[in-house]
Amino acid sequence: MSKKKQKIVRIIDLVHVYKGKVETIALPGINVTINKGERVVIRGKSGIGKSTLLHCLAGILKPTAGKILVEGKNIVDFNEDQLAEYRRNTVGLVYQSYNLAPFLTVKENIEFPMIIAKVKKDVMDKRVEELVEVLEIERYLNQKPSYLSGGEQQRVAIAVALANKPCIVLADEPTGNLDVENSLMVYELLSQMCIVYNTTLITVSHDPEAVKYADREIILTKIKSKDL
Ligand SMILES: Nc1ncnc2c1ncn2[C@@H]1O[C@H](COP(=O)(O)OP(=O)(O)OP(=O)(O)O)[C@@H](O)[C@H]1O
Ligand SMILES: [Mg+2]
Repeated sequence: MSKKKQKIVRIIDLVHVYKGKVETIALPGINVTINKGERVVIRGKSGIGKSTLLHCLAGILKPTAGKILVEGKNIVDFNEDQLAEYRRNTVGLVYQSYNLAPFLTVKENIEFPMIIAKVKKDVMDKRVEELVEVLEIERYLNQKPSYLSGGEQQRVAIAVALANKPCIVLADEPTGNLDVENSLMVYELLSQMCIVYNTTLITVSHDPEAVKYADREIILTKIKSKDL
């Protein structure tokens, strides 16, 4: 018997306009539905609004109009406390530039989001152990990120993003600074992690290789979408 797919993200008529000297319509009215555990790659030409969409989904940017339902709740209506909680526990972010704290060791970087989320020490220790084993970063635990290669730093960044067991991982050009070999390793790891933890993965990438590790590709255009 096939299990009914649970919708985890529903983006409804999402509009974002950057206001300034010139107004930029970054999102023209986007409609997207993503299922739980699905791995989606978002593509589209430079400046089309991919990062803007991811920032809205991450609860970092409030869109001009529209709804973003995550597990049925419209995050656009969240207050600051609800947004902080959402960013801590529901979404994990992976960026091109790794975004690791340079003054903390690898272990402390992975622990940091769990300390903020007030995770108990024994639970945290177990989680660090599990993540570093799967991501093969045990030997770097006590080093500062700058001593690691780009691929190694991105593996640490994936561990940081997954630390609080988010149900959605958002990755914006996660391989933008990596060579082909390391890029494939990052796609493979993100994809595997999502299967293991039943996490939904939304990756923005220019790289056609990324699509091979995804269930579906969404192409953004400047035209208001009915459903993607
Ligand atoms: N903070 C900002 N203020 C004003 N305009 C912005 C801002 N951020 C992005 N934009 C504009 O909004 C549009 C969408 O930008 P966005 O960064 O989302 O594109 P993108 O698809 O991620 O591009 P790329 O592939 O180059 O990363 C662009 O025209 C950009 O110039
Ligand atoms: Mg971008």
